[in-house]
Amino acid sequence: MNTVELITKKRNGQALTEAEIEYLVNGYTAGDIPDYQMSAFLMAVYFNGMDKAETVALTQIMRDSGDVVDLSAIDGIKVDKHSTGGVGDKTTLIVGPIAAACGVPIAKMSGRGLGFTGGTIDKLEAIPGYKTSITEQEFMDQVNSRGISVIGQTGHIAPADKKIYALRDVTGTVENLSLITSSIMSKKLAAGSDAILLDVKCGSGAFMKNQEDAEELASLMVEIGNADGKKTMAMITDMEQPLGNAIGNALEVEEAIDVLKNRGPEDITQLCIALGGMMIYMGEKASSPEEGMQKARTVLEDGSALTKFRDLIEGQGGDPAIIDDPSLMPQAEFCMELKAWEDGYIEAIDAMRIGLASQHTGAGRERKDDVIDMSAGIILCKKRRDHVISGETICKIYGNDIKKVEKALEEVTNSVRISVKKPDDISLIKKIID
Ligand code: URA
Repeated sequence: MNTVELITKKRNGQALTEAEIEYLVNGYTAGDIPDYQMSAFLMAVYFNGMDKAETVALTQIMRDSGDVVDLSAIDGIKVDKHSTGGVGDKTTLIVGPIAAACGVPIAKMSGRGLGFTGGTIDKLEAIPGYKTSITEQEFMDQVNSRGISVIGQTGHIAPADKKIYALRDVTGTVENLSLITSSIMSKKLAAGSDAILLDVKCGSGAFMKNQEDAEELASLMVEIGNADGKKTMAMITDMEQPLGNAIGNALEVEEAIDVLKNRGPEDITQLCIALGGMMIYMGEKASSPEEGMQKARTVLEDGSALTKFRDLIEGQGGDPAIIDDPSLMPQAEFCMELKAWEDGYIEAIDAMRIGLASQHTGAGRERKDDVIDMSAGIILCKKRRDHVISGETICKIYGNDIKKVEKALEEVTNSVRISVKKPDDISLIKKIID
């Protein structure tokens, strides 16, 4: 086979065979095909797309490029959850303990941030002592003894995706349905759980800006997951404004604890009850999603989800005292506030711009090897549809570098709109796909 011929074939809009896709993916992963040829191929896919058979083949080839984890030593139906990425999305820290408290084993491998904000693993590293890297045996033992473990995804899971994603990130080829589907599903299928719940974000802070695209992505991922023998479902959820009030690593852990104490912000609490309820149902610990949601509410109210979070932290060497005293996590030196410039209602808090602002504070990476400032980030004191009076604080920006905090303040200012009229409500959960 010849790489140039395959690039040309895709450039001309033709479908590739499984063998041809395998040649390109394995060749690139092994270092035999250079970045410039893979970049050209990815751009051809970006413009011409892939059909379903090509997408399935790409997913399976990337899944098989590394280890496919065997979690059979863990009892019960293991349910994984994946979010396509959003600003202020700390749901794993909450739904993992909720589902585990209801008896669903959570053996979760999570990633680091891909852009704006830190990922679940970055957030967990804000907890002093928490080990995101433990041996496979320790991981299995912890799930069997404590019901939950959350670790960083190893380089052995879908290494082809790791290399290709890094290239897509710097060649403007991320936002393509087939490439996103195969990237996410190759990792999820390799991670070994029996069932997968996908939280597909939709709105300004998400890859998918409108519901139609989000539904197309969700349907394709669900189909690929189910075809692989994993019970797969998806929820399309809103990402027009950040989720919850906190954006930034230690700040998000603190907010997750508040939700687990049943005193968190309304939107993230409701979303976690819905996601958690679905995981409980998928893990066959409830006979319907509604019963799952009821169980999720109960474990938030009776404190058993919080106890599971404590168990998780203790099991992985972290300091559980942060649950009672979050100030034991890194604290920022500087704080600046954005004040309302007129009376009215918050019409928009643009998630993408807030994400960028949070990145400016140091809470997210601008380059792959940047070190995250765990204490940095943003707290929203007002959300969409809230009333504000001129001079009232809309949000607080934290960081250890005053210049970065000032730059973030500028970005945040551009992200907020105030209007005289109260804007219409936007539903948080738009659709469920199974
Ligand atoms: N998340 C991933 O893991 N891959 C993508 O392509 C997009 C989001």
